[in-house]
Amino acid sequence: MPTALILGATGYLGLPLAKSLLRSGNYTVYGLARTPAKAKTLVQNEVVPVIGDVNDPSSFTHLISSVPIDVVIDATSAYESATGLLSAITAASKSRMATLAKEGSSVPKLGFIYISGSWVHGNHTEPVSDTVPPGTSLAKAKPATAVGWRPAHEQSILAARDVLDVAIVRPSQMYGGTSWVWNTYFGPLLAAGKSGSTETIQVPADSTARPSIVHVDDVVSGVHGATDRIHGLLGSWPVFDLVGETVLLNDIMDGAKRSLGVKAALEYAGTQGNPFLEAIGLTTNNQSTRAAIVLGWQAKRQSFVQYIDTYVKAWAASQEEPK
Ligand SMILES: NC(=O)c1ccc[n+]([C@@H]2O[C@H](COP(=O)([O-])OP(=O)(O)OC[C@H]3O[C@@H](n4cnc5c(N)ncnc54)[C@H](OP(=O)(O)O)[C@@H]3O)[C@@H](O)[C@H]2O)c1
Repeated sequence: MPTALILGATGYLGLPLAKSLLRSGNYTVYGLARTPAKAKTLVQNEVVPVIGDVNDPSSFTHLISSVPIDVVIDATSAYESATGLLSAITAASKSRMATLAKEGSSVPKLGFIYISGSWVHGNHTEPVSDTVPPGTSLAKAKPATAVGWRPAHEQSILAARDVLDVAIVRPSQMYGGTSWVWNTYFGPLLAAGKSGSTETIQVPADSTARPSIVHVDDVVSGVHGATDRIHGLLGSWPVFDLVGETVLLNDIMDGAKRSLGVKAALEYAGTQGNPFLEAIGLTTNNQSTRAAIVLGWQAKRQSFVQYIDTYVKAWAASQEEPK
């Protein structure tokens, strides 16, 4: 049975991914946790916890040969450590291959899946394909400022294919359950709904924004599909955008307003040069057809606005303090 090590296993995406791999019966799953309390959460979910930090890859890279690990999935938000992490993973795979070579044997390359994101495609109305490397002269738009570093990192991962079997998966903005990415937009609505305030609410976005979104469960199935195929079944360009749909932010906000019982008017105030607001408020036209062709992936949830009451209420419930 292959063994996966998930970095970011305690996160919004990482934990349901761990559960999906376990549920298939095809994987043993190890997960990185930064604290004993988070390690306990992993144990409760049948994940083998490893206490460590991506800032210190030696806290887990020894497992690559000792367990041994077949695939490492980077689902962390430790962006500042991405380069060091890739070097450490590459070195561990190289060392394992060299050791086995001395024993007169070969070994499958270590799999490495990197969770990037669709913001690398930037602001665009024309369709964008994941065969176009973002940040290059082929790209139609510049990456969002907040992820300006990410295209170069994706290229470093693709360049490591002599020692790693890699995949880059780019979810669009995720929704479902506790999704933190909607806090900025829904937070003021929740407060206004509770207080009954009728003061106009400033939405820090352009009124024309049309983000690409995808349900977290669909992202889990996409990453799971890439994990199943990591050893040689992903073709010559193992990069996949995962998009459920693109939706006008206006429609999302109107639905969320109704759901939270907000009487106040909304005013779109623009992103005012804030890189995070720019990223969450992009206008996009991303596609996932390669994920459909290569991974057999299709988003099962494609009706965010129709079912927005369910999603907003799930998000709002996650904002309540535990009793
Ligand atoms: N959420 C979205 O809508 C979205 C959309 C597209 C792409 N993505 C990408 O998907 C990835 C995961 O996002 P997410 O929403 O699941 O984020 P998240 O809920 O914030 O989870 C981040 C995970 O990374 C861990 N982590 C952070 N710094 C670490 C470090 N130094 N060492 C070890 N672990 C560390 C966190 O551990 P703790 O539990 O200890 O904090 C947590 O498990 C990110 O790369 C993000 O850019 C997310």
